[in-house]
Amino acid sequence: MLRQVVATETAQPFIIAGSGTLGWDQAAANLIEAQDKVLVLSNGYFGEGLADCLECYGGQVTRLRAEPGNREDLSLVRKELQTIKYKAITVTQVDTSTGVLGDVQAVAKLVRELSPDTLVIVDGVCATAAERLYFDAWGVDVLVTASQKALGCPAGISVVVASQRALATMSSRATPVPAYYASWARWLPIMRSYEDRAVKYFATPCVQTIFALNTSLKEILANDGGMEGVFVAHERTSERVKGAVEAWGLQTVAVSKEAAATAMTAVWLPEGIQAADLLPKLKARGVVAAGGILAGLAHRYFRLGHMGITATQDNGYVDVMLAAVAGALEECGHSVEQKNAPPRL
Ligand SMILES: Cc1ncc(COP(=O)(O)O)c(C=O)c1O
Repeated sequence: MLRQVVATETAQPFIIAGSGTLGWDQAAANLIEAQDKVLVLSNGYFGEGLADCLECYGGQVTRLRAEPGNREDLSLVRKELQTIKYKAITVTQVDTSTGVLGDVQAVAKLVRELSPDTLVIVDGVCATAAERLYFDAWGVDVLVTASQKALGCPAGISVVVASQRALATMSSRATPVPAYYASWARWLPIMRSYEDRAVKYFATPCVQTIFALNTSLKEILANDGGMEGVFVAHERTSERVKGAVEAWGLQTVAVSKEAAATAMTAVWLPEGIQAADLLPKLKARGVVAAGGILAGLAHRYFRLGHMGITATQDNGYVDVMLAAVAGALEECGHSVEQKNAPPRL
């Protein structure tokens, strides 16, 4: 089912107890050797974290940083790929710190055109099953994701999908994989035996969460419109949220529609209101939102998640969230009595 969600026929999923961060370690430990050059497209906090992780394993990382709210500049990516032979490039599909959508398809296309041997590593923790990703057709090599976001399952599973090319790169390393738990070679027989319905042990699986993931994947794939139906449902919810943001007279951190995720929205707060003012008022209305997370700007914005089945089915949750934000903003002194504004709670 995971292969169906990410549109691959041949790639190998790894379903391992851990959080999304374990996926960074898996990609870095298995693919990167000391002095390997890696280009990290950093659209925020999580791009930086991935770069730090790659450096832990000896990667020589170049960080192409976008200004807050912007995404990677493809002309700079092109220049880098033309000048330096990178072992891998990373894109964060949705940087959860900014709600910015990386252009995975365009980056992968550039890589295939200019530097076909470079591995394309995608951080899809906040994107998989909400944002379009066609693993085989786009030429992705590693997708790192996790159970707890748009896959709609409790936290606790690191979900990674690796292409056969990525596995071959791991197998032909000059040096041993500098990790034990994160070693793909140790997990491969286990993943294969899962598929053969056979019993094999390397380390204890998170059995209950794997059952939950099984249920989530069935729910996702039950959409009448297939994965396209799932993506369109996310777009619909996202448009409602972003429409409300506009109606409240506020702006998203993402600077344009193209650069904005559909899985979540980061919103600049009005002058004089800080995240610490707003969040408790939202909580009092039964809604938990996140503050900012970008260094130096964290107090100036807040983040709303609207991904997965709970946010895309017709259950009224998004209405509750929007009404709570409107009420909390009003209580903070920001008038939301604009035209087209949704009701407040
Ligand atoms: C884009 C992105 N990458 C990586 C991570 C790390 O995942 P986890 O917190 O599950 O370890 C997160 C967590 O929010 C994320 O949003």
